[in-house]
Amino acid sequence: MHRSPWKDAGQDSSYRLVSGPVPTSTGGTSPADANGGAAASVVESLPRVTRTVLTSGVVRFIVTSMTAAEPISTSFTASSTADEVLQGVDLTGVRAIVTGGSSGIGFETARALTAAGAQVTLAVRNPAAGEAVAETIGTSTGASRPRVQRLDLADRATVMRFVEAWDGPLHLLINNAGLMTPGLERTREGWEMQFATNHLGHVALAAGLHDALALGATQRDGARIVSP
Ligand SMILES: NC(=O)c1ccc[n+]([C@@H]2O[C@H](COP(=O)([O-])OP(=O)(O)OC[C@H]3O[C@@H](n4cnc5c(N)ncnc54)[C@H](OP(=O)(O)O)[C@@H]3O)[C@@H](O)[C@H]2O)c1
Repeated sequence: MHRSPWKDAGQDSSYRLVSGPVPTSTGGTSPADANGGAAASVVESLPRVTRTVLTSGVVRFIVTSMTAAEPISTSFTASSTADEVLQGVDLTGVRAIVTGGSSGIGFETARALTAAGAQVTLAVRNPAAGEAVAETIGTSTGASRPRVQRLDLADRATVMRFVEAWDGPLHLLINNAGLMTPGLERTREGWEMQFATNHLGHVALAAGLHDALALGATQRDGARIVSP
């Protein structure tokens, strides 16, 4: 879309300008035109999205505040374990990737998913450490041993190699790996290391696995990406 010349948009906390496709129309009302220009037509209006074409030809999207979402509630608390959450859940046939699955929360996530029947791939920087963890998980759960595949989220080439090597559907992508306050380091591209690892690497991974996730979604009524 064109960029709107509507400069007042950011000054009202209940509105912000966005670009990109808008959901399908349900009809609606004409918005106030804070730009002073005429609104030629209100093309689409949803509860929170209005798309207007100005006489100048500029297309304007207005998204109202999205704070009204209902909170999700469950019976689980901060002290609930992964096993408690997965109790009674059968994940047979589910293919999952856990980044950083060789330690910490990633290890426990991979272990619990494996115990529930999922086929887990540990996406790790250090394959030797991953293999040792896969062995531990396989032995302790008595379930199918996780696969191990190298992935360095700060190295775009390994992300691409991981994506190219992935075959078939994917149902769960757990973007767990991450650095916490590592000090100022940069990737080869010059990107700040924590941002590149925790965010950019996972975005590239998810985008690269889009088709596998889409295939998984058609198989099991949805696929899921979990990012902390
Ligand atoms: N624990 C908490 O209280 C807490 C709180 C808020 C958020 N989190 C987030 O939750 C996630 C897991 O936390 P945790 O406590 O389990 O941390 P952790 O034990 O330090 O594990 C982090 C994992 O990420 C991996 N990793 C780091 N950089 C990577 C890279 N470039 N490519 C691929 N893998 C990489 C590490 O691999 P190596 O083994 O090779 O180093 C490790 O397996 C992290 O994203 C963390 O930021 C944790």
